[in-house]
Amino acid sequence: MMRLGVSLAHGPYEVIVGRGARAAVGELLPQSCRRVAVVTQRAVPVELDLPCESIRVVVPDGEDAKRLQTVEDLCRAFARAGLTRADAVVGLGGGVVTDLAGFAASIYHRGVAVVHVPTTLLAQVDAAIGGKTGVNLTEGKNLVGSFWQPAGVCCDTEVLDTLPEREWRSGRGEMIKYAFLGIGDLGELGIEEQVARCVALKAAVVSEDERDTGRRMILNYGHTLAHALEATGFAELGRANDLRHGEAVAIGLVFAARLARRLGRIDAARVEDHLRLVRGQGLPTALPAGADAATLVALMARDKKATDGLTFVLDGAAGVEPVAGVAADEVLAALGEMEVSVA
Ligand SMILES: NC(=O)c1ccc[n+]([C@@H]2O[C@H](COP(=O)([O-])OP(=O)(O)OC[C@H]3O[C@@H](n4cnc5c(N)ncnc54)[C@H](O)[C@@H]3O)[C@@H](O)[C@H]2O)c1
Ligand SMILES: [Zn+2]
Repeated sequence: MMRLGVSLAHGPYEVIVGRGARAAVGELLPQSCRRVAVVTQRAVPVELDLPCESIRVVVPDGEDAKRLQTVEDLCRAFARAGLTRADAVVGLGGGVVTDLAGFAASIYHRGVAVVHVPTTLLAQVDAAIGGKTGVNLTEGKNLVGSFWQPAGVCCDTEVLDTLPEREWRSGRGEMIKYAFLGIGDLGELGIEEQVARCVALKAAVVSEDERDTGRRMILNYGHTLAHALEATGFAELGRANDLRHGEAVAIGLVFAARLARRLGRIDAARVEDHLRLVRGQGLPTALPAGADAATLVALMARDKKATDGLTFVLDGAAGVEPVAGVAADEVLAALGEMEVSVA
Protein backbone atom coordinates (compact mmCIF):
# COMPACT_ATOMS: atom_id res chain seq x y z
CA MET A 1 0.00 0.00 0.00
CA MET A 2 1.30 3.47 -0.87
CA ARG A 3 0.30 6.59 1.02
CA LEU A 4 0.70 9.87 -0.81
CA GLY A 5 0.11 13.31 0.64
CA VAL A 6 -1.62 16.18 -1.11
CA SER A 7 -0.57 19.39 0.63
CA LEU A 8 -3.03 22.24 0.48
CA ALA A 9 -3.73 25.59 2.12
CA HIS A 10 -6.44 24.07 4.33
CA GLY A 11 -4.25 21.18 5.40
CA PRO A 12 -3.08 18.01 3.74
CA TYR A 13 -5.03 14.90 2.83
CA GLU A 14 -3.97 11.41 2.06
CA VAL A 15 -4.37 9.27 -1.06
CA ILE A 16 -3.98 5.57 -0.32
CA VAL A 17 -3.08 3.51 -3.39
CA GLY A 18 -2.97 -0.28 -3.59
CA ARG A 19 -4.82 -3.56 -3.82
CA GLY A 20 -7.40 -3.59 -1.06
CA ALA A 21 -6.96 0.13 -0.22
CA ARG A 22 -10.74 0.48 0.24
CA ALA A 23 -10.39 -1.25 3.63
CA ALA A 24 -8.78 1.98 4.88
CA VAL A 25 -11.75 4.18 4.01
CA GLY A 26 -12.80 4.43 7.68
CA GLU A 27 -9.45 6.00 8.58
CA LEU A 28 -10.09 8.87 6.20
CA LEU A 29 -13.54 9.81 7.53
CA PRO A 30 -13.75 12.69 10.00
CA GLN A 31 -13.85 11.70 13.69
CA SER A 32 -17.17 13.48 14.09
CA CYS A 33 -18.82 11.26 11.54
CA ARG A 34 -21.86 9.30 12.74
CA ARG A 35 -23.44 8.61 9.39
CA VAL A 36 -22.14 8.21 5.87
CA ALA A 37 -24.00 8.56 2.59
CA VAL A 38 -22.34 6.35 -0.02
CA VAL A 39 -23.04 7.72 -3.49
CA THR A 40 -22.63 5.04 -6.12
CA GLN A 41 -24.09 3.36 -9.22
CA ARG A 42 -25.79 0.02 -9.75
CA ALA A 43 -22.99 -1.14 -12.04
CA VAL A 44 -20.29 -0.60 -9.40
CA PRO A 45 -19.80 -4.02 -7.79
CA VAL A 46 -17.95 -2.81 -4.71
CA GLU A 47 -18.96 -3.01 -1.06
CA LEU A 48 -17.39 -0.89 1.66
CA ASP A 49 -16.77 -1.79 5.26
CA LEU A 50 -17.63 1.39 7.17
CA PRO A 51 -17.14 2.11 10.86
CA CYS A 52 -20.53 3.82 11.23
CA GLU A 53 -24.11 3.79 10.02
CA SER A 54 -24.42 4.24 6.26
CA ILE A 55 -26.97 4.72 3.53
CA ARG A 56 -26.45 3.95 -0.15
CA VAL A 57 -27.64 6.49 -2.69
CA VAL A 58 -27.64 5.23 -6.26
CA VAL A 59 -27.29 7.67 -9.15
CA PRO A 60 -28.00 6.74 -12.78
CA ASP A 61 -25.19 5.60 -15.06
CA GLY A 62 -23.58 7.76 -17.74
CA GLU A 63 -22.48 11.32 -18.39
CA ASP A 64 -26.13 12.30 -18.70
CA ALA A 65 -26.54 11.77 -14.94
CA LYS A 66 -24.00 14.56 -14.31
CA ARG A 67 -26.64 17.28 -14.11
CA LEU A 68 -28.10 19.63 -11.50
CA GLN A 69 -31.22 17.50 -11.08
CA THR A 70 -29.11 14.60 -9.80
CA VAL A 71 -27.39 16.91 -7.31
CA GLU A 72 -30.78 17.97 -5.96
CA ASP A 73 -31.83 14.31 -5.73
CA LEU A 74 -28.64 13.54 -3.80
CA CYS A 75 -29.04 16.42 -1.35
CA ARG A 76 -32.66 15.43 -0.73
CA ALA A 77 -31.59 11.85 -0.03
CA PHE A 78 -28.94 13.17 2.40
CA ALA A 79 -31.59 15.26 4.16
CA ARG A 80 -34.04 12.35 4.41
CA ALA A 81 -31.28 10.23 5.93
CA GLY A 82 -30.63 12.95 8.51
CA LEU A 83 -27.06 13.62 7.40
CA THR A 84 -25.65 16.49 9.47
CA ARG A 85 -22.68 18.80 8.95
CA ALA A 86 -20.60 16.49 11.11
CA ASP A 87 -21.25 13.52 8.80
CA ALA A 88 -19.70 12.59 5.50
CA VAL A 89 -20.33 11.59 1.92
CA VAL A 90 -18.38 8.82 0.19
CA GLY A 91 -18.11 8.82 -3.60
CA LEU A 92 -17.84 5.18 -4.72
CA GLY A 93 -17.60 4.95 -8.49
CA GLY A 94 -16.06 6.45 -11.59
CA GLY A 95 -15.61 10.13 -12.39
CA VAL A 96 -19.33 10.69 -12.87
CA VAL A 97 -19.95 9.56 -9.29
CA THR A 98 -16.99 11.38 -7.72
CA ASP A 99 -17.85 14.64 -9.57
CA LEU A 100 -21.49 14.38 -8.42
CA ALA A 101 -20.74 13.24 -4.86
CA GLY A 102 -18.07 15.93 -4.45
CA PHE A 103 -20.35 18.68 -5.74
CA ALA A 104 -23.32 17.60 -3.61
CA ALA A 105 -21.02 17.36 -0.54
CA SER A 106 -19.69 20.85 -1.24
CA ILE A 107 -23.13 22.47 -1.09
CA TYR A 108 -25.14 20.25 1.29
CA HIS A 109 -25.32 22.17 4.61
CA ARG A 110 -22.83 24.54 2.90
CA GLY A 111 -20.27 21.76 2.84
CA VAL A 112 -19.75 18.34 4.41
CA ALA A 113 -16.68 16.11 4.23
CA VAL A 114 -16.29 13.81 1.24
CA VAL A 115 -14.03 10.77 0.86
CA HIS A 116 -13.58 9.29 -2.60
CA VAL A 117 -13.18 5.63 -3.43
CA PRO A 118 -12.70 5.86 -7.21
CA THR A 119 -13.49 2.60 -9.01
CA THR A 120 -12.39 3.36 -12.58
CA LEU A 121 -8.81 3.80 -13.72
CA LEU A 122 -9.69 7.27 -14.99
CA ALA A 123 -11.13 8.36 -11.66
CA GLN A 124 -8.15 6.92 -9.74
CA VAL A 125 -5.53 8.75 -11.79
CA ASP A 126 -7.50 11.93 -12.29
CA ALA A 127 -11.14 12.66 -11.43
CA ALA A 128 -11.03 11.83 -7.71
CA ILE A 129 -7.82 13.78 -7.08
CA GLY A 130 -7.62 17.54 -6.93
CA GLY A 131 -10.96 18.75 -5.63
CA LYS A 132 -12.71 19.81 -8.81
CA THR A 133 -16.36 18.83 -8.74
CA GLY A 134 -19.24 19.65 -11.00
CA VAL A 135 -21.98 18.88 -13.45
CA ASN A 136 -22.82 19.61 -17.07
CA LEU A 137 -25.30 22.01 -18.59
CA THR A 138 -26.91 21.58 -22.01
CA GLU A 139 -24.50 24.35 -23.07
CA GLY A 140 -21.39 22.39 -22.16
CA LYS A 141 -19.46 20.11 -19.87
CA ASN A 142 -18.59 20.91 -16.26
CA LEU A 143 -19.96 24.45 -16.51
CA VAL A 144 -21.26 24.40 -12.92
CA GLY A 145 -19.19 23.17 -10.02
CA SER A 146 -16.99 23.93 -7.06
CA PHE A 147 -13.57 23.32 -5.62
CA TRP A 148 -14.09 20.89 -2.77
CA GLN A 149 -11.10 18.94 -1.60
CA PRO A 150 -11.76 15.43 -0.30
CA ALA A 151 -10.84 14.45 3.25
CA GLY A 152 -9.01 11.51 1.65
CA VAL A 153 -8.99 9.16 -1.34
CA CYS A 154 -8.63 5.36 -1.57
CA CYS A 155 -7.42 4.19 -4.97
CA ASP A 156 -8.03 0.46 -4.66
CA THR A 157 -6.59 -1.26 -7.72
CA GLU A 158 -8.41 -4.50 -6.82
CA VAL A 159 -11.76 -2.97 -7.81
CA LEU A 160 -10.41 -2.50 -11.34
CA ASP A 161 -10.63 -6.28 -11.86
CA THR A 162 -14.25 -5.90 -12.97
CA LEU A 163 -13.70 -2.80 -15.10
CA PRO A 164 -14.77 -3.29 -18.76
CA GLU A 165 -11.99 -3.17 -21.37
CA ARG A 166 -13.24 0.08 -22.86
CA GLU A 167 -13.07 1.81 -19.46
CA TRP A 168 -9.48 0.58 -19.02
CA ARG A 169 -8.62 2.12 -22.36
CA SER A 170 -10.34 5.35 -21.41
CA GLY A 171 -8.20 5.55 -18.26
CA ARG A 172 -5.12 4.89 -20.37
CA GLY A 173 -6.02 7.97 -22.45
CA GLU A 174 -5.73 10.14 -19.36
CA MET A 175 -2.46 8.41 -18.42
CA ILE A 176 -0.93 9.26 -21.82
CA LYS A 177 -1.51 12.89 -20.90
CA TYR A 178 0.67 12.37 -17.82
CA ALA A 179 3.39 10.80 -19.96
CA PHE A 180 3.74 14.16 -21.74
CA LEU A 181 3.65 16.05 -18.45
CA GLY A 182 6.84 14.36 -17.36
CA ILE A 183 6.19 11.02 -15.65
CA GLY A 184 7.76 9.24 -18.59
CA ASP A 185 7.13 5.70 -19.69
CA LEU A 186 4.95 3.66 -17.33
CA GLY A 187 5.22 0.54 -19.48
CA GLU A 188 7.18 -1.76 -17.19
CA LEU A 189 5.52 -0.80 -13.91
CA GLY A 190 2.72 -2.62 -12.10
CA ILE A 191 -0.70 -0.99 -12.05
CA GLU A 192 -0.40 0.19 -8.44
CA GLU A 193 2.86 1.99 -9.19
CA GLN A 194 1.40 3.46 -12.40
CA VAL A 195 -1.62 4.85 -10.55
CA ALA A 196 0.62 6.16 -7.74
CA ARG A 197 2.87 8.00 -10.22
CA CYS A 198 -0.10 9.72 -11.85
CA VAL A 199 -1.61 10.61 -8.47
CA ALA A 200 1.74 12.01 -7.28
CA LEU A 201 2.07 14.20 -10.37
CA LYS A 202 -1.49 15.48 -10.14
CA ALA A 203 -1.10 16.08 -6.39
CA ALA A 204 2.08 18.08 -6.95
CA VAL A 205 0.47 20.29 -9.60
CA VAL A 206 -2.71 20.78 -7.55
CA SER A 207 -0.66 21.68 -4.46
CA GLU A 208 0.96 24.48 -6.43
CA ASP A 209 -2.30 25.81 -7.81
CA GLU A 210 -5.34 24.63 -5.91
CA ARG A 211 -7.79 26.99 -7.65
CA ASP A 212 -6.67 26.57 -11.23
CA THR A 213 -5.28 30.02 -11.90
CA GLY A 214 -2.00 29.07 -13.54
CA ARG A 215 0.16 25.98 -13.32
CA ARG A 216 -2.80 23.61 -13.00
CA MET A 217 -3.85 24.41 -16.56
CA ILE A 218 -1.25 21.92 -17.80
CA LEU A 219 -3.51 19.13 -16.51
CA ASN A 220 -5.86 20.14 -19.28
CA TYR A 221 -3.40 18.93 -21.91
CA GLY A 222 -5.49 17.37 -24.68
CA HIS A 223 -8.70 18.55 -23.02
CA THR A 224 -9.65 21.65 -25.01
CA LEU A 225 -10.69 19.63 -28.05
CA ALA A 226 -11.77 16.71 -25.81
CA HIS A 227 -14.32 18.88 -24.02
CA ALA A 228 -15.55 20.32 -27.32
CA LEU A 229 -15.99 16.80 -28.74
CA GLU A 230 -17.84 15.75 -25.63
CA ALA A 231 -20.00 18.88 -25.74
CA THR A 232 -21.12 18.38 -29.34
CA GLY A 233 -23.29 15.60 -27.96
CA PHE A 234 -24.94 18.08 -25.62
CA ALA A 235 -25.33 20.89 -28.12
CA GLU A 236 -26.83 18.89 -30.93
CA LEU A 237 -28.63 16.06 -29.26
CA GLY A 238 -29.31 17.42 -25.81
CA ARG A 239 -27.42 14.44 -24.43
CA ALA A 240 -23.89 13.09 -24.21
CA ASN A 241 -22.42 11.40 -27.26
CA ASP A 242 -20.85 8.02 -26.70
CA LEU A 243 -17.15 8.98 -26.66
CA ARG A 244 -15.56 7.96 -23.37
CA HIS A 245 -13.68 10.80 -21.66
CA GLY A 246 -10.27 9.18 -22.13
CA GLU A 247 -11.04 8.52 -25.80
CA ALA A 248 -11.86 12.21 -26.28
CA VAL A 249 -8.61 13.10 -24.48
CA ALA A 250 -6.65 10.75 -26.78
CA ILE A 251 -8.04 12.53 -29.86
CA GLY A 252 -7.41 15.85 -28.13
CA LEU A 253 -3.75 14.96 -27.50
CA VAL A 254 -3.20 14.14 -31.18
CA PHE A 255 -4.86 17.43 -32.16
CA ALA A 256 -2.81 19.43 -29.62
CA ALA A 257 0.36 17.89 -31.05
CA ARG A 258 -0.65 18.82 -34.62
CA LEU A 259 -1.50 22.35 -33.55
CA ALA A 260 1.81 22.71 -31.66
CA ARG A 261 3.62 21.54 -34.79
CA ARG A 262 1.82 24.10 -36.97
CA LEU A 263 2.83 26.81 -34.52
CA GLY A 264 6.46 25.67 -34.74
CA ARG A 265 6.58 24.55 -31.11
CA ILE A 266 7.41 20.87 -31.73
CA ASP A 267 8.69 18.81 -34.65
CA ALA A 268 7.11 16.00 -36.67
CA ALA A 269 8.87 13.34 -34.59
CA ARG A 270 7.21 14.65 -31.45
CA VAL A 271 3.79 14.48 -33.19
CA GLU A 272 4.64 10.85 -34.01
CA ASP A 273 5.38 10.23 -30.30
CA HIS A 274 1.82 11.30 -29.52
CA LEU A 275 0.34 9.11 -32.25
CA ARG A 276 2.44 6.13 -31.18
CA LEU A 277 1.34 6.27 -27.54
CA VAL A 278 -2.33 6.80 -28.42
CA ARG A 279 -2.34 3.99 -31.01
CA GLY A 280 -0.36 1.78 -28.65
CA GLN A 281 -3.30 1.76 -26.24
CA GLY A 282 -5.84 1.10 -29.00
CA LEU A 283 -7.28 4.58 -28.55
CA PRO A 284 -8.73 6.71 -31.38
CA THR A 285 -6.58 9.28 -33.20
CA ALA A 286 -9.30 10.50 -35.61
CA LEU A 287 -12.17 12.95 -35.22
CA PRO A 288 -15.56 11.26 -34.90
CA ALA A 289 -17.50 11.05 -38.17
CA GLY A 290 -19.64 14.14 -38.68
CA ALA A 291 -17.63 16.36 -36.33
CA ASP A 292 -17.95 19.89 -37.69
CA ALA A 293 -14.78 22.00 -37.50
CA ALA A 294 -16.57 25.36 -37.14
CA THR A 295 -18.72 24.03 -34.28
CA LEU A 296 -15.64 22.62 -32.55
CA VAL A 297 -13.79 25.95 -32.83
CA ALA A 298 -16.82 27.81 -31.42
CA LEU A 299 -16.98 25.37 -28.50
CA MET A 300 -13.24 25.62 -27.86
CA ALA A 301 -13.53 29.42 -27.76
CA ARG A 302 -16.00 28.94 -24.88
CA ASP A 303 -13.54 26.80 -22.94
CA LYS A 304 -13.08 27.84 -19.31
CA LYS A 305 -9.37 28.55 -19.94
CA ALA A 306 -10.19 30.85 -22.84
CA THR A 307 -9.92 34.29 -21.26
CA ASP A 308 -7.87 35.64 -24.17
CA GLY A 309 -9.26 34.33 -27.45
CA LEU A 310 -8.51 30.70 -28.27
CA THR A 311 -6.30 29.27 -25.54
CA PHE A 312 -4.66 25.85 -25.68
CA VAL A 313 -2.29 23.83 -23.57
CA LEU A 314 0.54 22.93 -25.93
CA ASP A 315 3.79 21.04 -25.92
CA GLY A 316 6.98 22.92 -26.72
CA ALA A 317 10.66 23.36 -25.94
CA ALA A 318 9.84 24.37 -22.35
CA GLY A 319 7.40 21.48 -21.93
CA VAL A 320 3.62 21.60 -21.87
CA GLU A 321 2.24 25.10 -21.15
CA PRO A 322 -0.82 27.30 -21.79
CA VAL A 323 -0.70 29.31 -25.02
CA ALA A 324 -3.21 32.15 -25.38
CA GLY A 325 -4.41 34.01 -28.47
CA VAL A 326 -4.02 31.17 -30.99
CA ALA A 327 -5.36 32.22 -34.43
CA ALA A 328 -8.62 30.53 -35.43
CA ASP A 329 -7.11 29.82 -38.90
CA GLU A 330 -4.36 27.71 -37.34
CA VAL A 331 -6.89 25.82 -35.24
CA LEU A 332 -9.02 25.10 -38.30
CA ALA A 333 -5.96 24.01 -40.25
CA ALA A 334 -4.86 21.65 -37.45
CA LEU A 335 -8.39 20.19 -37.36
CA GLY A 336 -8.10 19.79 -41.14
CA GLU A 337 -4.96 17.68 -40.64
CA MET A 338 -6.86 15.23 -38.44
CA GLU A 339 -8.12 11.97 -39.86
CA VAL A 340 -11.89 11.46 -39.63
CA SER A 341 -13.50 8.18 -38.52
CA VAL A 342 -15.80 6.46 -40.93
CA ALA A 343 -19.34 6.45 -39.57
N1 LIG B 1 -13.05 16.33 -11.47
C1 LIG B 1 -12.02 16.07 -12.25
O1 LIG B 1 -10.92 16.57 -12.03
C2 LIG B 1 -12.20 15.15 -13.42
C3 LIG B 1 -11.07 14.70 -14.12
C4 LIG B 1 -11.26 13.80 -15.17
C5 LIG B 1 -12.53 13.38 -15.50
N2 LIG B 1 -13.61 13.84 -14.81
C6 LIG B 1 -14.97 13.40 -15.14
O2 LIG B 1 -15.06 12.00 -14.96
C7 LIG B 1 -16.11 11.50 -15.79
C8 LIG B 1 -15.66 10.22 -16.45
O3 LIG B 1 -15.35 9.28 -15.47
P1 LIG B 1 -15.16 7.74 -15.81
O4 LIG B 1 -14.36 7.61 -17.03
O5 LIG B 1 -14.70 7.12 -14.57
O6 LIG B 1 -16.62 7.27 -16.25
P2 LIG B 1 -17.89 6.78 -15.42
O7 LIG B 1 -17.92 7.38 -14.08
O8 LIG B 1 -19.06 6.99 -16.32
O9 LIG B 1 -17.64 5.21 -15.26
C9 LIG B 1 -17.61 4.39 -16.40
C10 LIG B 1 -18.50 3.16 -16.26
O10 LIG B 1 -17.85 2.18 -15.47
C11 LIG B 1 -18.75 1.68 -14.47
N3 LIG B 1 -17.88 1.26 -13.37
C12 LIG B 1 -17.27 2.05 -12.46
N4 LIG B 1 -16.46 1.31 -11.69
C13 LIG B 1 -16.57 0.03 -12.09
C14 LIG B 1 -15.96 -1.18 -11.68
N5 LIG B 1 -15.04 -1.19 -10.72
N6 LIG B 1 -16.31 -2.30 -12.31
C15 LIG B 1 -17.20 -2.28 -13.34
N7 LIG B 1 -17.80 -1.16 -13.79
C16 LIG B 1 -17.48 -0.02 -13.17
C17 LIG B 1 -19.64 2.86 -14.20
O11 LIG B 1 -20.85 2.45 -13.59
C18 LIG B 1 -19.83 3.43 -15.59
O12 LIG B 1 -20.82 2.70 -16.29
C19 LIG B 1 -16.43 12.60 -16.77
O13 LIG B 1 -17.67 13.17 -16.42
C20 LIG B 1 -15.31 13.60 -16.59
O14 LIG B 1 -15.73 14.92 -16.83
C21 LIG B 1 -13.45 14.71 -13.78
ZN1 LIG C 1 -9.58 14.34 -18.17
